[in-house]
Amino acid sequence: MELADQCIQVLDKNWKGRFTIPSPRLYPFQWNWDSGFIALGNLHHKPERALTEMEALFSGQWKNGFLPHIIFHNAEKYSSYFPSADYWNSGVSEEAPADLKTSGITQPPVHGFILEELSKAGLDILRISELFDKVSAYHQWLYQYREHESTGLVAIWHNWESGMDNSPWWDIPLERITLDELEYIQLERKDVHEVKESESTRPKDLDYKRYLYLVDTLRDNKYTEVPDDFPFQVLDPVFNGILLASTKSLIRLGKVLNKDTDWLSQKLNQGTESFDVYFLDDEQDLYFPYDLVGREKLKQPCSGSYIPIFAGIPSLARVQRMLKPYREQTQIRPFPSCHPEGVGFEQKNYWRGPVWVNMNWLIWKGLLNYHLSDEAELVKNQTIEMVKEYGIYEYFNPFTDNQSGTGYGGADFSWTAALVLDMINKTTS
Ligand code: GLC
Repeated sequence: MELADQCIQVLDKNWKGRFTIPSPRLYPFQWNWDSGFIALGNLHHKPERALTEMEALFSGQWKNGFLPHIIFHNAEKYSSYFPSADYWNSGVSEEAPADLKTSGITQPPVHGFILEELSKAGLDILRISELFDKVSAYHQWLYQYREHESTGLVAIWHNWESGMDNSPWWDIPLERITLDELEYIQLERKDVHEVKESESTRPKDLDYKRYLYLVDTLRDNKYTEVPDDFPFQVLDPVFNGILLASTKSLIRLGKVLNKDTDWLSQKLNQGTESFDVYFLDDEQDLYFPYDLVGREKLKQPCSGSYIPIFAGIPSLARVQRMLKPYREQTQIRPFPSCHPEGVGFEQKNYWRGPVWVNMNWLIWKGLLNYHLSDEAELVKNQTIEMVKEYGIYEYFNPFTDNQSGTGYGGADFSWTAALVLDMINKTTS
């Protein structure tokens, strides 16, 4: 079967009537940024589903504009996932929807640029206009609750908010949580039973306890504030790069829809001005997160270091310098979630080395915007070939030699299917 048809099959299999689950069994609910990527894929298959997917996601939006990272639509699956809907207990906040359980943290704000793509595809403008207001409210929430001083940059309070769960970027902030503080935590992990080689491909129990410690503290604070000594307060260049790209899309789209976009332009200017100050390492020509607690950059070369390309932040000359290492060797696929020479690299372990299709898609799109079509073509072809060879998995070994190259994590993974479908359907000219 052609790869495009396999991708469509996965999208159909994971479609649950109003939304798409990321992967059967492993992720049985609706996930935030997954849904954005999945909507893009559906533009090449069932465009109507793309709008419905976004509406289902925003049905979980809180009254104050907050958009959770998991929407637990299907009650019959509650017990099959950990941490469960009851563990999150979104009801601690009066802002949460009364009739739908959600998590209490968010994920990268892809929705602005996704919505612009939906509008370019000619989907129902009234429904797009309603979604525009919801996405705007979410951006307002981000600035109101998470903006660092008046930088136009917003903080994340949990590694899961980055979408790159166990990236080595988060090791220093997470290691602030001491073993004593973790003694009370009971793990009931389900993920490790759903994937092969879970010991080497998923986060360790100790990592997971730290993730839960953060959730517990956030829940105690109704998910709206953090105590002064909260260990995880980070500015992430991926989250903020995506925020800026989405803001640009909202400004363009808002003009067409007759919305007020002045406040968005102001935030865009502030964020753009602050970006290099907080994230750029001039010597390495790479972007790194800024740890607000330790007041330093977390310098590990990761695929996330390249996402500012998607937001159009670096100069063309810098983008060319950033790509040079990948042009000069063929043993490593672009773009490993942690560079093999980086501290903490593990070739099979989730966000500590493997290649993820959504990161490659974002970088590919960015390169197209810089009119670097040869470079873009290279990323696209390598991504498509990787998925063709190893299957529609969640993540992939970064080494190109056949012995170690394989797919890991969830099989039939929706955003891999959706974004490869998008790559197949678009020419690079
Ligand atoms: C993993 C990924 C996250 C994704 C989720 C559902 O937790 O790290 O980015 O949203 O799975 O696919």
